[in-house]
Amino acid sequence: MQIKSAKFYLSSHKVKDCPKSILPEYAFIGRSNVGKSSLINMITNQRKLAKTSSTPGKTQLINHFLINGSWFLVDLPGYGYAKTSKSNKKKFQKSITDYFNQRNQLVSAFILVDIRHAALEIDLDFMIWLVTNNISFSIIFTKADKLTEKEIENKIKDYKQKLEKDWEILPKIFISSSKKHLGKEAVLSYIQEINTSIIQ
Ligand code: GTP
Ligand code: MG
Repeated sequence: MQIKSAKFYLSSHKVKDCPKSILPEYAFIGRSNVGKSSLINMITNQRKLAKTSSTPGKTQLINHFLINGSWFLVDLPGYGYAKTSKSNKKKFQKSITDYFNQRNQLVSAFILVDIRHAALEIDLDFMIWLVTNNISFSIIFTKADKLTEKEIENKIKDYKQKLEKDWEILPKIFISSSKKHLGKEAVLSYIQEINTSIIQ
């Protein structure tokens, strides 16, 4: 899919303030600092569409970006960031759970996972929560530029093994690097495929 236009549309504190539009939307979610906002910029060929930062917790609102005038990419606040107790970290912020529970326009979520880390409980818990709530999702591994090809291969293998302990069917997996512009085509083709199937 060609990106012909990508525009900031709206920032919302709460799901009830999100756009009234019925256009399909795709949400980027994951731990703080994993690279959600950077990936949105990379995918849309823009450097500053979504605000990025090396300090975790930059994105605090639900941000809608209108793509090609026909669908939304949604940048969500990260979960798991907070200088608080472990039990607190495990809870996903209410704005995030409300978004997933109430936003009917959401077609599919992308959970972003830093490829350098072993499978983290907070991500696995969130995936289980999505499945329990009947929300479709895929995984995008980020920051692939930080590892060698061989390391990437091993990390993906380990991650899949971990997922296989819980599930028979694994989610779709993408590998990305915003720094090296990797993974854009695969993610966009996947979105296009779904958009086409919705319209028909
Ligand atoms: P929050 O909004 O705080 O939840 O973070 P986020 O997930 O939106 O992360 P963001 O895109 O702001 O990026 C966090 C940091 O990771 C920044 O310093 C980015 O430059 C860096 N980063 C993001 N993607 C990549 C990547 O593909 N490769 C490398 N090397 N660094 C990246
Ligand atoms: Mg962000």
